[in-house]
Amino acid sequence: MRKKLVIGNWKMNTSTEEAINLIVDIKGLLPADKETVLCVPFTHIAIGDELVLDTNIQIGAQNVSAYDNGAYTGEISADMLKSLAVDYVIVGHSERRQLFYESDELVKTKIDKVLAAGMIPVFCCGETLEIRNSGNYLEAVTKQLQNGLFHLRSDWFSKVVVAYEPIWAIGTGETASPEQAQEVHNTLRNSIREKYNDTTADNTTILYGGSVNAINASDLFGQKDIDGGLVGGASLHAEKFVAIINAL
Ligand code: PGA
Repeated sequence: MRKKLVIGNWKMNTSTEEAINLIVDIKGLLPADKETVLCVPFTHIAIGDELVLDTNIQIGAQNVSAYDNGAYTGEISADMLKSLAVDYVIVGHSERRQLFYESDELVKTKIDKVLAAGMIPVFCCGETLEIRNSGNYLEAVTKQLQNGLFHLRSDWFSKVVVAYEPIWAIGTGETASPEQAQEVHNTLRNSIREKYNDTTADNTTILYGGSVNAINASDLFGQKDIDGGLVGGASLHAEKFVAIINAL
C-alpha cells in the first residue's frame, strides 16, 4: 500500500541520554494524526521501544547483517532486530555502499534477510555527483533498483519502501530540486511498472532523501511521485524534524 511517510535516519549520532531526550521531545511535538519512524543506532533501539510505546512513533534500524545468527563478531542479525520489535530497516544506504564497500549483491542479500524476518526494508539508491554530471544518472539509479530488488516476487516487492538519495545531496546542504527529484522518482516508478505491474508501481512508497529540511520539504513532497522523506541531519532536531513531518 502506498504510504506517505517521513523516516528519520540518526546515523552514528547521540549518546543514550541525548537519544532519550530527542525521542521525548519528538513525542511531545508530534501531532496525534501523524506518524513517523526513527532509525536510531542499534544501541538505542531497546530504550527507544519503551519510550514510544503507545505512540505513533516506530523504531527502526539503519543496517542489518547479511548473515543469520552465528559466529559473526560485531554483527546484528535480522532476527535480533525483529526480536526488538523493529519494523523498518534501512538497507543499502550510500554511506554503507561507499564507506563499507557494500555491493549490490550484499544489499540484495540483506533485503532478503529483512523480508524473511517479517520487517520492511527501506532500500536506498542514488547517484554520485560524477554520475549526475555525466548525464547517466537515470540508468545508474535504475540499475541499482534492479540489482537490489527485482529478484523479488511481486508480493515481496510490495512490502519494500524505496528511498532515492542522490549522494551529492546527502549532508551537503544541497538538495535536489523538486523537479530533479521527481524525474528520478518517476523513472523508478516506471521501471517498477515495467517489471511488475501498475498496481505494484502505484502502491510503492518512494521517499526522497538528501538535505531535506523544514523549508524545502513541502515543495519536494508536493511532487506526484515523492511519497515522503528519509531525513538525516534535520532528524536530530525535534522541532525541525516534526516541521518536516507536518509538511507531508
Ligand atoms: P541528510 O541525510 O538529510 O543529512 O542529507 C539523509 C540520509 O543520508 O538519509
